[in-house]
Amino acid sequence: MIEIRGLTQTYQGPQGPVEALRGIDLHITPGEVFGIIGRSGAGKSSLVRTINLLNRPTRGEVIVNGRDLTRLGEAELRAARRDIGMVFQHFNLLSSRTVFDNVALPLELAGMPRGEIAQRVNPLLELVGLAQLAGRYPAQISGGQKQRVGIARALASRPQVLLSDEATSALDPETTRSILDLLRQVNRELGLTVVLITHQMQVIKQIADRVAVIDAGRIVEQGRVLDVFTRPRQPITRSLIEEILPQELPASVLDHVRKLAAQLRGAGQGAEGQLLRLSYAGDSAYQPILSRLIRGYGLDMSILHGQVDEIQDQTFGSLAVYASGEAAQLRGAIARLRDEGVEVQEVAVALED
Ligand SMILES: Nc1ncnc2c1ncn2[C@@H]1O[C@H](COP(=O)(O)OP(=O)(O)O)[C@@H](O)[C@H]1O
Ligand SMILES: [Mg+2]
Repeated sequence: MIEIRGLTQTYQGPQGPVEALRGIDLHITPGEVFGIIGRSGAGKSSLVRTINLLNRPTRGEVIVNGRDLTRLGEAELRAARRDIGMVFQHFNLLSSRTVFDNVALPLELAGMPRGEIAQRVNPLLELVGLAQLAGRYPAQISGGQKQRVGIARALASRPQVLLSDEATSALDPETTRSILDLLRQVNRELGLTVVLITHQMQVIKQIADRVAVIDAGRIVEQGRVLDVFTRPRQPITRSLIEEILPQELPASVLDHVRKLAAQLRGAGQGAEGQLLRLSYAGDSAYQPILSRLIRGYGLDMSILHGQVDEIQDQTFGSLAVYASGEAAQLRGAIARLRDEGVEVQEVAVALED
């Protein structure tokens, strides 16, 4: 559907060239919600704006539905852009036009007759829940409602792809959720491919199927959202996840670990202890796995801390346990957990603070 190859973007800034994109390759499949996350300045807007060629890349190809947009002439490009709708952070509505007329604008520009425009716009206003507000002006509606207008306008030319650049960043958490639900609904009901740019992991968690992490103009990590949440590889990814699922263990838990470790040494049986962070997703569940380990390897396990969350109907959990027992058995148990698809981190705890 969307194939991006070797994309670079260099701007001429006042202090010399700025390399905003440094060789991006991406493959986005039809009907998916593909999230791109990164910190401010990472190159997200530069990337999304090259997908519809609002920005012309310095190098690289942008292939949408089999056509390389970078090779099209102006007229062909205008036509190709009708397949790609875009939603903006600050809505970009015309304040002098009503809700209806804002949604109608792209159709007017494409020369559609007035009667047909109404037939197209009214169902869209219905879809985004604004049928009652068709005659209002942007100043008379809320931020969430403005973004609904933005979404309806983006859908007016019946695109196959919807690009969203921080569409919820100006909205409160409650409104953010409802706008993301609407994007998800549009994705499912209209079969639209959605490419969503954000700096908030919460947004990715709520609606993306796959995610790519962009940092300093490069894609540093990508995969299914659940996999990336369970096994983040890059520090930047971990820190973005950390914002919604704190990874640091509370001090009280670490104190408890020190006590358990001290007891173990005091017992002097040559037993070893290890603090483990376990994460899992989907079908694996801790309890049967842990009880099998306790029985099969003769370990003691203290469950210290846990969080369970949901990513799109799939359970996602993280658990801290202190496991102790004979060294070889402990090793065996850790290997077994990994075989079962549990991500295991062995956490070092300084014994003295
Ligand atoms: N038109 C421009 N001219 C010069 N530098 C730019 C321009 N647009 C963006 N940049 C720079 O490119 C980098 C990436 O910007 P941007 O794509 O807007 O990132 P993001 O959307 O992730 O915040 C930043 O360093 C930014 O300052
Ligand atoms: Mg941006």
